[in-house]
Amino acid sequence: MNCIIRPCTVKDCKVILQFIKEIAVHYRVPPTEVKVTLEVLREDGFGAQPQYDCYVAELPPRQTNKEGQQIGKRLIEKAAQAAVAKGCGQLRMHIAKTNEMGFLARQGGQDLTAKEGWSLFHFKEDALRRLAARSKF
Ligand SMILES: CC(C)(COP(=O)(O)OP(=O)(O)OC[C@H]1O[C@@H](n2cnc3c(N)ncnc32)[C@H](O)[C@@H]1OP(=O)(O)O)[C@@H](O)C(=O)NCCC(=O)NCCS
Repeated sequence: MNCIIRPCTVKDCKVILQFIKEIAVHYRVPPTEVKVTLEVLREDGFGAQPQYDCYVAELPPRQTNKEGQQIGKRLIEKAAQAAVAKGCGQLRMHIAKTNEMGFLARQGGQDLTAKEGWSLFHFKEDALRRLAARSKF
């Protein structure tokens, strides 16, 4: 197994942003909806008050074969390890209804939408700001 899983460094922010943009294209999200910038990723991940943890799977230089290395499995195991180390009692993931549902079930996850009927609600920035402006307290 040649792939390593390691914590991101500030130098990885460029490639993280690239991945975010690629996934936006995959889900046909207009580029104008991708608000995050390199500066925000750097500050939020590696500034005075870090807001996220991030891990990357890295193949040795010149190796391009991603098959058979259990990269997805090792990444979710790392996420679980980081969550437990922080004292978390559970892990939740927002996913589109695509093929990773079978993968997550195989790792021991439960589909709460199917089991309990949960929906995911999103307040976009303008709705969030309108709501915040209405607060009297
Ligand atoms: C789903 C995904 C994370 C799996 O990662 P992977 O590196 O291909 O899979 P792994 O090699 O780690 O597989 C681990 C195990 O899960 C199984 N598995 C992999 N994909 C699976 C799937 N879609 N359904 C069920 N089982 C799956 C493997 O057979 C393997 O089983 P084993 O432990 O018994 O050998 C990966 O294929 C992926 O990211 N797909 C694209 C998803 C995507 O782009 N989503 C958009 C962002 S949300």
